[in-house]
Amino acid sequence: MLFTKGLLAAVVAYIAFLVYQSHSLDNKRNAIELAFLQSWRDYTRHGWDADVYRPISKAKSNMYGSDSKPLGWIIVDSIDSMLLMYNSSRKNQEHFKTEILRVEDWVSTKLDYDIDVSVSLFETTIRMLGGLLSAFYLSDEMNIGDPSIYLAKATDLANRMLPAFENTATGIPYSSINLHTGVSEKNHVDDGASSTAEFTTLQLEFKYLSAITGDDKYWRAVEKVYKPLYEENNLIDTYKGLAPIYVYPDTASFRGRNVRLGSRGDSFYEYLLKQYLQSHETLYYDLYRKSMEGVKQHLVSKSSPNGLVYIGEREHGLFGPLSSKMDHLVCFMGGLLAMGATEGLHISKAREQAFWDTKREEDWILAEELTYTCYQMYHQIPSGLAPEIVVFNDQISSSTHGWWKSEKGDFYVKPADAHNLQRPETVESIMFLYHLTKDQKYRNWGWEIFQAFQKHSGQSCKPSDAECPYTCISNVLADPPTKADNVESFWLAETLKYLHLLFQDDIDLSSIVFNTEAHPFPIITPEQTKNGTLLNTGWSFD
Ligand SMILES: *[C@@H]1O[C@H](CO)[C@@H](O)[C@H](O)[C@H]1NC(C)=O
Ligand SMILES: *[C@@H]1O[C@H](CO)[C@@H](O)[C@H](O)[C@H]1NC(C)=O
Repeated sequence: MLFTKGLLAAVVAYIAFLVYQSHSLDNKRNAIELAFLQSWRDYTRHGWDADVYRPISKAKSNMYGSDSKPLGWIIVDSIDSMLLMYNSSRKNQEHFKTEILRVEDWVSTKLDYDIDVSVSLFETTIRMLGGLLSAFYLSDEMNIGDPSIYLAKATDLANRMLPAFENTATGIPYSSINLHTGVSEKNHVDDGASSTAEFTTLQLEFKYLSAITGDDKYWRAVEKVYKPLYEENNLIDTYKGLAPIYVYPDTASFRGRNVRLGSRGDSFYEYLLKQYLQSHETLYYDLYRKSMEGVKQHLVSKSSPNGLVYIGEREHGLFGPLSSKMDHLVCFMGGLLAMGATEGLHISKAREQAFWDTKREEDWILAEELTYTCYQMYHQIPSGLAPEIVVFNDQISSSTHGWWKSEKGDFYVKPADAHNLQRPETVESIMFLYHLTKDQKYRNWGWEIFQAFQKHSGQSCKPSDAECPYTCISNVLADPPTKADNVESFWLAETLKYLHLLFQDDIDLSSIVFNTEAHPFPIITPEQTKNGTLLNTGWSFD
């Protein structure tokens, strides 16, 4: 009898625990939804429909001057976050629905990409084309509104950008293109060189558009960049798959030898893996594998005294010294390595697959270590928010005078790098690692970071406030941290979306692929890729 009572009590306690957990999960998602709605409403009330918005002064402007029409920079980037939150929200579903339909109406009646300005091919592709395509995908999935509005706009925009790939002899586009005339422009600095990560981060979007429309011209165009990039430079043998960050578009040759996984380098690696995840064509996995072996051999190191694993930079090429500087941007690598190892399966399942090998095991361990390091870049800062760049203690760098030093001594922050742009990369990796392990510690880390954003970026607005001017931080080291007057579209498009996904259950990471701006696309099925010669890789090494 006693035993049964004890058992009963244990069962009751366990059920209570489960109920508590699911309540607390609902409450956390609800808090993130409220932060989104508060930040969004502050924009819609004071900044609508401008591309650039300053939440403190309430100033607004468009990307290419005040006479220029808006590109939908903040609006288009935010649609799919609202669709995802709408789909799983318990309390705010009607609010999201209202906003989604309002935005759809704006896209249909106001958004016009016939603009006589030269736009960044990369930024416009990842934010606008990516945003429209995932809005198409999700509004169709969720049966809300009219998905064809987004597809028509996406196709129009892609057609305006397509000449960029015809305008050079190599197929590697110049940095900008005029959306009205179709004329391309070289980068105005850096000798006209294009950033490596920019022209290698267009492929998921254009390929998905080919898959939807059945027209392979988008797919063919974006794929052209790889053959010259790899073959002209002997990228695999000479550079170990680690591409310097600038390329001359007319010749495909590298400018300089600077190798890093931060700005201008990052998403080159990301899109190698993600093209494999998108269409399961092994060429891209093989290229990714070469690069990751290069990363492990040439860029990974550990801090003193506590051995935080980081990815450094080789400013003077692979045989120059390793700099221990790491951009917050590099923090996407934990999630990427984890997805590359598991292909979106839970780690225990992935380890049972025929594809599992020692290289994937190494990638996985590195993924966990890097994500921990990136979490420490928040946790060890008194405000709880990471700076834009840290310099790890490698016991070599001599002059650290005037730099802030972390309490445990593992990293420094230079005064000029102490800002926080509400970037997503760390919560992105945390989201992936959580769903691939179900280890509660990742949710704890994500919640801690969200609360720091609420407190400092959101200036401790109350949950009952209808609006809240979430803003970037100019100095995370000041007490209290000082605010900047700006909000980036990726706060709504990425950071809050990844946080929200972290607190959802049943996310299937093997059926979707996120572009570099967190816009999800469904994977392209083997039926689609094997259909005639349409949608598959059209190049190989000579
Ligand atoms: C939308 O919600 C349903 C029900 O919770 C879920 O099964 C589905 O996977 C969700 N769709 C997406 C794209 O998240
Ligand atoms: C296969 O291609 C044909 C035309 O080439 C097209 O009509 C059909 O919809 C395609 N099927 C799939 C599954 O994409």
